[in-house]
Amino acid sequence: MGSVLVTGGAGYIGSHTSKLLLKKGYDVVIYDSLELGHKEVLKYLPGAKFVQGDIGDGQLVADTVKKYDVDSMIHFAAYASVPESVGDPVKYYQNNIVKTLTLLDAINSQGVKHVLFSSSAATFGETQYVPIDEKHPQKPTNPYGQTKLDAEYILHWYDVAFGIKSVALRYFCAAGADPEGELGEDHTPETHMIPLTLFAALGRRPDIKIFGTDYPTHDGTGVRDYIHVTDLGHAHILGLEALKNGAETTAYNLGNGKGYSVREVIETGRKVTGKTIVATESPRRPGDPAELVASSAKIEKELGWKPQFGDIETIMRTAYEWFEKHPKGYASEE
Ligand SMILES: NC(=O)c1ccc[n+]([C@@H]2O[C@H](COP(=O)([O-])OP(=O)(O)OC[C@H]3O[C@@H](n4cnc5c(N)ncnc54)[C@H](O)[C@@H]3O)[C@@H](O)[C@H]2O)c1
Repeated sequence: MGSVLVTGGAGYIGSHTSKLLLKKGYDVVIYDSLELGHKEVLKYLPGAKFVQGDIGDGQLVADTVKKYDVDSMIHFAAYASVPESVGDPVKYYQNNIVKTLTLLDAINSQGVKHVLFSSSAATFGETQYVPIDEKHPQKPTNPYGQTKLDAEYILHWYDVAFGIKSVALRYFCAAGADPEGELGEDHTPETHMIPLTLFAALGRRPDIKIFGTDYPTHDGTGVRDYIHVTDLGHAHILGLEALKNGAETTAYNLGNGKGYSVREVIETGRKVTGKTIVATESPRRPGDPAELVASSAKIEKELGWKPQFGDIETIMRTAYEWFEKHPKGYASEE
């Protein structure tokens, strides 16, 4: 099947995708600094090779590609917090752009021609219409989104100059956990809506904040598109197969195409957990759009992608099962 370098493979989406790649018969080489990832995931990725290193270390990347005969790369490694990027744009440009350039030069020096890239809904900025398709203007409103958009352009020019073909997948809100219960979401600090809601159910937080109740949505709270992390993983495999079959460089939006409001997520959390979840209404946060919902029609049509775990209850149940068994995240396994 080939040998895939998975940067950031010890992180949330990278580990879930690696599990699927292994099941499909790919050789998987996880390349991660472990700054934000977890070595415990390796236990659930039998057969995966692991290299602890920084994507900014071009020599180590090139040596790794050579050693494991890598022929494609999925590039997850990045910093991904919007508020942090607003306060410290340099950190984001360094990791997500400067080090990504070093990484791309290193794989290019070894003849790797296929790249899957983790892009983001944050590249779109203010929502002009929903569902957001690939033609929606991309005008990021924060440095994180800008670095993801810049990386999309960089990949375009690497195709023009070096013939590296790439697929950028613009995820909306990744959520849920491995349906087999082995892998889950462990971010510090956690900033995502679904984990925070479930932490409130588990008593790990006193409440869940509703930021803004006066949005022009059906119940006044913000609407987001949640996509199960395993469905995301499948999209990467389809993208990889398409590149191997000669596809051109392109980008796809990836979501369920259905939005859920903050109140609906909290209500689903109560239903799935059977527990009390205290919701506290707070003012809007600057920069939060009212509604972010993807059109995934392009990837459905061109690559035959279909979400298997699309409903919000399944997404929240799989996440909850993992959080219940891992009160301290992966550290619970030590
Ligand atoms: N989680 C989401 O909802 C979401 C949405 C849109 C896009 N994305 C993108 O998906 C990718 C993965 O997100 P995630 O939620 O799995 O994040 P994560 O933090 O769980 O995983 C990122 C991994 O990359 C590693 N890493 C970071 N910088 C590195 C470097 N310089 N060298 C080597 N390793 C490095 C970290 O140690 C971590 O294991 C990111 O690129 C993110 O921007 C995530």
